[in-house]
Amino acid sequence: MHISKAMNAKLCEQISNEFGASQAYLAMACMFDGLALKGLAKLFRKQTDEEREHALKILDYVLEVGGDVKLAALPAPKSDFSSVKAAIDAAHKHELRVTQQIHDLVALADKEKDYASRSFLQWFVDEQVEEVSSMEHLLRIAEMAGVNLLQLESYVRHMLAPKG
Ligand code: FEO
Repeated sequence: MHISKAMNAKLCEQISNEFGASQAYLAMACMFDGLALKGLAKLFRKQTDEEREHALKILDYVLEVGGDVKLAALPAPKSDFSSVKAAIDAAHKHELRVTQQIHDLVALADKEKDYASRSFLQWFVDEQVEEVSSMEHLLRIAEMAGVNLLQLESYVRHMLAPKG
């Protein structure tokens, strides 16, 4: 099976986007850790791993369909956010951007009648619904907590606690 050159290039671009997100969230995790917000740092470390998994999932697909994987240099992630809320806001905006990137890939697959890529991408469409929703939720909690970062931290720790 083969994918078009255009699809191959866009998928490689998305691999970089996902690795970029992984780096961005790692930088945020370090910032939170520096503020002694260990729960929030842990949550973003988890996101870092998830983004890396997304990148590798796409990479494996490109290889599976006989495409070429070209990795690109990543820009340094931003780490000088003015506040915790500003960092979470950036993460939320980032997820909205990724959703658009995935939707653009789906549109390309539809245009090319590339049903294999279309099917592969559905997992990412569904994943983005969850990722945008959880980041939106976290942003709202951060807005409600305001300067009381301990409230936000305690919410996140509760969220991360094993259930049952
Ligand atoms: Fe892989 Fe959070 O987008």
